[in-house]
Amino acid sequence: MTGVKIVGVGHYAPERIVDNHDLEQWLDTSDEWITTRTGMKRRHWTSENEATSDLALAAARNALASAKLEPNDIDAYILCTVYPDYLFPATACIVASKLGARDKAAFDMEIACSGFIYGLTVASSMIRAGVYKRIVLIGAETLSKLVDRTDRGTAILFGDGAGAVVLEAAVEDSFLGSELGSDGSRPELLRVETGGSRLPVSHATLDRKADRIHMEGREVFKFAVTKMIEATDRALEKAHLQKSDVDVLIPHQANKRIIDAAMKYLEIPPERCVVNIQEYGNTSAASIPIALSEAVRDGRVKPGDVIVFVGFGGGLSWGAVVWKWAA
Ligand code: UT7
Repeated sequence: MTGVKIVGVGHYAPERIVDNHDLEQWLDTSDEWITTRTGMKRRHWTSENEATSDLALAAARNALASAKLEPNDIDAYILCTVYPDYLFPATACIVASKLGARDKAAFDMEIACSGFIYGLTVASSMIRAGVYKRIVLIGAETLSKLVDRTDRGTAILFGDGAGAVVLEAAVEDSFLGSELGSDGSRPELLRVETGGSRLPVSHATLDRKADRIHMEGREVFKFAVTKMIEATDRALEKAHLQKSDVDVLIPHQANKRIIDAAMKYLEIPPERCVVNIQEYGNTSAASIPIALSEAVRDGRVKPGDVIVFVGFGGGLSWGAVVWKWAA
């Protein structure tokens, strides 16, 4: 068997819902501005005692249940996040243990909002190469804890949640093509500046809130539209498919205007594009697997469908995967 397929999906979002009117209470913003500029209405935020691993654990449990598999049936756990529980050890190790998996491979991947696209490519490649038979791939984020909640440019955008898939070796291959890219020449466009080896945390960095997300929104917006289009085109080319072959497109949920602009160019009608940004905001590496999980649950993804997953984010980074949904 040299193919791979998805045999389980699941997601989880924290109970607390913060809607646009809640944000109006402490930010100079409005429901009208947020809705028209982003398409967001609500987002989920963790409580103080919830960490990324807690969300990841719940999503992984749901995905394993839908696959009817036990944690020890899995060979490796991969977790994509920008905000792990700790700088180290890897949050995936904690999640695998809490699930009850023993001695399994577990590691984190950090490539910001493109995490799930990169993760899907890496995990699929490991299975197609025969290294592992089954992998749980999770995207999980608690960005409400990483934003400056007084910065209206970012606080309104980000939400918390987790999505997970179970990948399994298969005769027929679901992985049809992947295009990944990055440009690290301008990290300041979207980053958390302090906390790493370049600029360790100090009183001075904390005082100027360098431990919070900083984003040049307009610049990122322009890049996002271009790269979503390019990545989708190239991944389809590698899969020897046309835009008209796409049954379902599942984009990173960063801004409804970004999604609409890209869909227009790609000539993908709205009914073929999965959008849940109004409920979750931008959940970074979790946004695509959450959207997939909801789309599968709602019957919007059917056996034989050609799906394009496409994402972009900090790095800057971007990518798209073309996937055939197995029976
Ligand atoms: O997943 C990671 C990737 N991230 C993204 O893809 C985000 C990409 N960027 C965006 O989605 C958009 O740039 C934002 C939603 C962040 C901002 O929307 P925009 O249409 O680009 O607004 P802008 O930054 O150009 O600001 C327009 C105006 C400004 O006021 P002035 O200077 O024209 O008077 C801002 O100060 O809107 C103001 N503004 C706000 N007003 C009310 C900015 N944020 C807000 C706000 N509420 N929350």
